[in-house]
Amino acid sequence: MNLDIKITHVEQSQLKTVPQDYSKLAFGQNFTDHMMIMRYSEPNGWSPAEIIPYGDITISPAASVLHYAQEIFEGMKAYKTSTGKIQLFRPRLNFERLNTSAERMCMPQVDIDYVLAALKELLKIEERWIPSQKGTALYIRPTMIASEPFLGVHAAKEYLFFIILSPVGSYFKDGFKPVKIMVEDKYIRAAPGGVGFSKTGGNYAASLKAAQEAAKKGYSQVLWLDAIERKYIGEVGAMNIAFRINDEIITPELDGTILPGITRRSVIEFCKKRGIPITERRISVEEIIDAVKSGTLKEAFGMGTAAVIAPVGAIFYKDTEYLINNFEVGEYSRLLFDEITGIQIGEKEDLFGWIEPVN
Ligand SMILES: Cc1ncc(COP(=O)(O)O)c(C=O)c1O
Repeated sequence: MNLDIKITHVEQSQLKTVPQDYSKLAFGQNFTDHMMIMRYSEPNGWSPAEIIPYGDITISPAASVLHYAQEIFEGMKAYKTSTGKIQLFRPRLNFERLNTSAERMCMPQVDIDYVLAALKELLKIEERWIPSQKGTALYIRPTMIASEPFLGVHAAKEYLFFIILSPVGSYFKDGFKPVKIMVEDKYIRAAPGGVGFSKTGGNYAASLKAAQEAAKKGYSQVLWLDAIERKYIGEVGAMNIAFRINDEIITPELDGTILPGITRRSVIEFCKKRGIPITERRISVEEIIDAVKSGTLKEAFGMGTAAVIAPVGAIFYKDTEYLINNFEVGEYSRLLFDEITGIQIGEKEDLFGWIEPVN
């Protein structure tokens, strides 16, 4: 593919120091030396990608994104194997989801082959930033914003698309341990017909209040219920959720209010291949609480790029905290974590064709 990318390298003397101690690295606070950027305007379409030194961008204070939040983003990771290979995990699905989000938010589509090729160029330039210790990765944040300076409420005619990179340590700084979650029955995240399935900033802004209140009570994530009956389970924080009742894994179906997670999809595909029963269906919080009480709820876990699998050890609902699996990591949680992270870092064979090589 003829990439036609303009690359402006950071001067050697200006290169930043790559973090060495990943155990202390906070999420999303360090950024690499370079970024990728493209500009869109009607009727010209997208400009060629440019790789430039990482730095502030200038937009007008009238830019639509600042007023009406026309914004979408993605999150994925690049890994380095023990033999020095750089690899991505199903990145096409991230760019497909970006285009789905773009369609809902009246934003332009990107050419998936082109932006993936540009991302690979950026990763090759930033190779020294991709860690290879277990649990670490280079987090990738593609973002599209409406940059047209215009205060009318309409779809903008100008956009910026950029990709920034941030080295991340393990989600489980104190080992692979369960998290405590709280069922949210006051606030909602998304409603039918809304934008819950899109990765758009407003969904996250709207979730902050509930997350703050849950954190005050000692819960790290909010488990969202449906907007109409406050009965059916959606997703948890920035993860999809699954429950194991007896030997069956159940995860809420994609009803348009939850994000179609790539980890969730990978878990489903993995379980189907391994013969582990897994069902996508509506599941009520009452069904879960009943299963806890009767002892049939064997485990629960979140699924997302950040943690891959986050075992749930306790669930708070209507003034009561219920323990799950004695606050221990469940059998399927461990299996899925080991298998999927093993494929991501090149320790396990990629039988699914999930890995996209970079170099
Ligand atoms: C709201 C929400 N749900 C689910 C997920 C999990 O999606 P994925 O597995 O693609 O990271 C994320 C993270 O991106 C998210 O932000």
